[in-house]
Parts: sequence; structure tokens; C-alpha cells
Amino acid sequence: MILQTERLILRPWEETDAEECYKYASDPRVGPAAGWKAHASVEESRRIIRDILSAPETYAIVLKETGLPIGSIGLHNNDLASKDGETELGYWIGVPYWGRGIAPEAGREMLRHAFEDLGMARVWCGYYDGNEKSKRVQEKLGFVYQWTSENVPVPQLHETRRGHVNLMTRETWISKIKNGGGE
Ligand SMILES: CC(C)(COP(=O)(O)OP(=O)(O)OC[C@H]1O[C@@H](n2cnc3c(N)ncnc32)[C@H](O)[C@@H]1OP(=O)(O)O)[C@@H](O)C(=O)NCCC(=O)NCCS
Repeated sequence: MILQTERLILRPWEETDAEECYKYASDPRVGPAAGWKAHASVEESRRIIRDILSAPETYAIVLKETGLPIGSIGLHNNDLASKDGETELGYWIGVPYWGRGIAPEAGREMLRHAFEDLGMARVWCGYYDGNEKSKRVQEKLGFVYQWTSENVPVPQLHETRRGHVNLMTRETWISKIKNGGGE
């Protein structure tokens, strides 16, 4: 599926995106904040596109202006969102594009997609303690704070962190976001 916003196209990752993916995912300011290791080579980015970013409902965030991917956003099933009708939103943006509201713009469309197209009832979203940038994105999207957990495993980085969990229910989305509320 291909989704669109004013400035963005959200479309499946392709192996031919490996160089662009590496350009941004190799920066240590990106992956570790989200719990994964910076990519070490274009070859590794290609493998990750093939094995991980090819998962259903994972999209390359492509700038309409350039036609090139600058980040990733997706809906995933995992521990937080293991029940039917529940999913978890995750995202990252290349550093040169931070601060332009791209993650909130892509996130808004993913929420619409989750509730309207996929019929989800709840979308979870979390961030690790200290990731104020991601916290801000979730505030802008209208997520509602649920709880904080100590010692959340971050398997790829062999460590544990404090994690904050937010939730958007279909009802909240309809009242706050769809009807023009939120920020
Ligand atoms: C979190 C992230 C996706 C935000 O994307 P974005 O498109 O820049 O989002 P926004 O433009 O709305 O900026 C969000 C906040 O980041 C901060 N920020 C923006 N640009 C910044 C920059 N160049 N340097 C430092 N902080 C910056 C600001 O506090 C901003 O909030 P504000 O708009 O209220 O000032 C991006 O920073 C990122 O990819 N981080 C690393 C991966 C990650 O943390 N993913 C989420 C895991 S939960």
C-alpha cells in the first residue's frame, strides 16, 4: 500500500533504497535512541531492508520534493500490542530532516491508516527515558500517557532502560484528532 500526506509518500522499502537508508541509519543519533544499532555498511542496510523493513505495515518515508527516503515508520505487533485490534507505532527520521515536523506528519497518517483502513482499536507508542524528541512527537500526535516500566530489555544493545508507554484509542483519535483537536 502507498499512503500520502502533504509533503510525504509512505511506501514499502525496496532493496534499491539501501544507500539512502544507510546514509541516515548509520548515524549513531538515530538507531540507539530507538533501541537498535547504527547500520555498519550499505550491505547491512540492504539486509535489514530485506529481513526487517520488509515487514507488513512498515513504510519508507519519502520526501515528495526529492523522491528519496529519509526515514521509516511502521505498525508492529509485539509485547505491547499482541492482541487483535492492537498495534504499536514506531518511527525514525534522518538527522538532517529533524525539526520539520516530518515524524508527526507521517504519524498522523499512520494513525488514520491504523484506525480507518486496518480497523485497529488501539495504537500503542513508547519511548525510552530521555528521548524528549520522541516524547514530543507522541504529544503532538495526541497520545495519552499510560505507565513507566523500569528495566525494559533492549536486546540489540544488550542493556535495559526505563520506558514510557503511551496509547491512542480509536475513541481518543476520533474525538481529539479527527475532529481537529490536538496540537
Ligand atoms: C524522534 C524523531 C523521529 C522526531 O522526528 P522529527 O520529524 O524531527 O519530529 P519534530 O520535527 O516534530 O521534532 C520533535 C522534537 O524534536 C526536537 N528537535 C527537533 N529538531 C531537533 C534537532 N535538530 N536537534 C535536536 N532536537 C531537535 C524538538 O524538541 C522537537 O519538538 P518541538 O517541535 O516541540 O520543538 C527523530 O528525532 C528521530 O528519528 N530520533 C531518533 C530515532 C527515535 O528516537 N525514534 C523514536 C523511537 S521511540
